[in-house]
Amino acid sequence: MTSSDSIRMEKLCYSIGGRKILENFDFHLERGVNRTILGVSGSGKTTILKLLLGLLEPDSGGIFLGDLCITGLPESAFMQQRRRIAIVFQGGALFDSMTVGENVGYRLFEEGQLTQAEITAIVREKLGFVGVEPALDLYPAELSGGMKKRVAIARALAADPDYIFFDEPTTGLDPIGVYNICSLMQRLQAEGKTTLMVTHDLATAFATSQRFTFLHNAHMLFEGSEDEMKASNIPEVREFLAPTTSSLFV
Ligand SMILES: Nc1ncnc2c1ncn2[C@@H]1O[C@H](COP(=O)(O)OP(=O)(O)OP(=O)(O)O)[C@@H](O)[C@H]1O
Ligand SMILES: [Mg+2]
Repeated sequence: MTSSDSIRMEKLCYSIGGRKILENFDFHLERGVNRTILGVSGSGKTTILKLLLGLLEPDSGGIFLGDLCITGLPESAFMQQRRRIAIVFQGGALFDSMTVGENVGYRLFEEGQLTQAEITAIVREKLGFVGVEPALDLYPAELSGGMKKRVAIARALAADPDYIFFDEPTTGLDPIGVYNICSLMQRLQAEGKTTLMVTHDLATAFATSQRFTFLHNAHMLFEGSEDEMKASNIPEVREFLAPTTSSLFV
């Protein structure tokens, strides 16, 4: 494993309005090791993904894509590395005024490197992969929640990234929808993609990841495997895995 194949946060600090969201947060995503960041609602999971993508600027500490420290760099300076990462946003974040096909092909179209026919072929292939090719000409408003998530995954796949970030991909779905998304993530992993998910859904996390990071009160309280997490004596981890009425989370 070379350092050019990892994404890292080192001693990262980030606050909003004086409130610390992350404090001296260290994080490492290696190529080929699928990871989930767990934490209660509002703990800063989405914020971590936005920081890793360079969409937010940390107060201090460094973010590395491979050997490149992106902290403070304009996006154009790390575009080559950034292109290896795609994100499926919480809620999908599809463009309502565009068809499913236009949504999926949007980034390729903007890059201007491919012909319309080449883009259409990729769009059809990615929609086929996630099982919603018949929705090509529909608008997001005409789709179910589960279909929207699958279209959002197809859009993330369009530029053939190495890493795919998933923000709460199963929240709000029925059991069949959850199963479909977990299966899709497993197929992507089998094809060599590395997934990073943030969620509070334990079943999805354990079905799709080998390593787990637990975020609590701006700190990483735990990092390890499923077995290590289940055997952990850290009170907050135990509470997260089996909530009781006297909650530690305030
Ligand atoms: N633009 C903003 N302005 C003010 N506070 C914000 C902003 N964005 C996020 N926050 C706060 O930062 C904290 C972390 O937010 P974040 O969205 O990262 O949490 P999360 O763990 O993803 O939560 P959820 O599980 O509900 O999606 C929250 O307490 C939130 O209220
Ligand atoms: Mg979130």
